[in-house]
Amino acid sequence: MLTQNLSEFWENLYSDGKDYWDLKAPTPALLEFFKNKQCPAKAKKGSVLVTGAGRGHDAAAWAARGHDVVAVDFCPTAVDALDSLSRKTKNLKALDLDLFELSPKDAKKCGQLFDIVYDYCCFTAIHPGRRDELIEVWHKMLKPDGIVIAFFYPLMNGNTMQGPPHCTTEGELMARLDGIFDVAARIKPTGSVKAREGKEEIWLLKKTEE
Ligand SMILES: C[S@@+](CC[C@H](N)C(=O)[O-])C[C@H]1O[C@@H](n2cnc3c(N)ncnc32)[C@H](O)[C@@H]1O
Repeated sequence: MLTQNLSEFWENLYSDGKDYWDLKAPTPALLEFFKNKQCPAKAKKGSVLVTGAGRGHDAAAWAARGHDVVAVDFCPTAVDALDSLSRKTKNLKALDLDLFELSPKDAKKCGQLFDIVYDYCCFTAIHPGRRDELIEVWHKMLKPDGIVIAFFYPLMNGNTMQGPPHCTTEGELMARLDGIFDVAARIKPTGSVKAREGKEEIWLLKKTEE
């Protein structure tokens, strides 16, 4: 039995045409966020790490705004698409890596810190048992004054859904983030795609001061 801890699990979904999360374009909620008054100055420039970037539509949208972007995925179909994007986009780099191996110190495993970590449908794609580890990865890869911009979907308080995507809840997020990140803002997008309406939220996270 393959689990989502393995790249083969994701590759099978891509190759069987079951990549239902892929919107074939940047997430409308992200494009809306770029224009939102609550989009902080910090999110207007700086380097961006995109975790579980898939085919890279959102990574390309960040790059189009002038950010230096590193898009990481470990699944061949996604990495091929990211490679192809990186050949067309000088400020977008594809990284073929299991994101749990990311390191700001090891050049083969990224080797840099970021101003922004952007996550859409990666937190809810990985095995829920690894969520604390993912939060540690965001923290480790972020500059001290950096921000995580996490689009949580499906955020369904009180409801459940077979995953991935595995649902999350406000209570779970607050408990996991406690002492690691402070929630600087929460934004409810109005331009979500139909199936995600009312089920996603953008959280801006800053490192908790020690
Ligand atoms: C649900 S898809 C979302 C893709 C993209 N963020 C989007 O919204 O279109 C999850 C992606 O995360 C990638 N992924 C899952 N676990 C990963 C891991 N441990 N390391 C790197 N990528 C991972 C999968 O290969 C897949 O492309």
